[in-house]
Amino acid sequence: MKVLVACEFSATVREAFTRRGHFAMSCDLLPTEIYGQHYIGKVEDLLDMNWDLMIAHPPCTYLSNSGVTWLTETNDPNLDRWYKMEEGADFFKLLLDSDISHKAIENPIMHKYAIDIIGRKQDQIIHPYEFGHPESKSTCLWLYNLPKLKATNNVYSQFISLPKRERERLHYLPPSVDRWKLRSTTFQGIADAMAEQWGNDV
Ligand SMILES: C[S@@+](CC[C@H](N)C(=O)[O-])C[C@H]1O[C@@H](n2cnc3c(N)ncnc32)[C@H](O)[C@@H]1O
Repeated sequence: MKVLVACEFSATVREAFTRRGHFAMSCDLLPTEIYGQHYIGKVEDLLDMNWDLMIAHPPCTYLSNSGVTWLTETNDPNLDRWYKMEEGADFFKLLLDSDISHKAIENPIMHKYAIDIIGRKQDQIIHPYEFGHPESKSTCLWLYNLPKLKATNNVYSQFISLPKRERERLHYLPPSVDRWKLRSTTFQGIADAMAEQWGNDV
């Protein structure tokens, strides 16, 4: 199966599919962190290359509900942020509407302004604790011709017994140059579930 992993520098999803015998290529404006099939550049260049499946992780900075107050401050509407939000939502929609028969687009919980542009809400919300990692992070999936991802190793009881700072490790990461990368890298358990379940389905 030919799999395009869009907007991925970490190679987590790409390698999960490659290990299971698929031809998988990641694409990002940044270099890949693990040597392998990777295109440095815009994913727009690759969309019409006959992929069987695309998994995409487009930037969420201006789409995420956690940043919505920046848009809605009534006394000082942040026009630059509105513009970037529209640009981000258009890019998300481009991926969602691309001519690839099986697709999953991933993002955090989105605010209503972005959902209005994209046209629909997510199909599923998953958490890392359903896939073997005792942490929470609402991860939304917009699915196209794919079944919902099934939990592979639910460690909720272990997760809930941990202190809040450990349960929400990513939220409490100290400032650093790499903080955004650490926060946005796909969890291994989720990548493996995608490759196991969707690699067989398509
Ligand atoms: C939220 S991060 C996703 C990281 C991913 N989950 C991983 O594990 O590597 C979004 C990524 O999209 C990339 N990106 C932004 N615009 C892009 C484009 N037009 N084509 C390809 N990648 C793009 C950024 O460089 C960034 O690395």
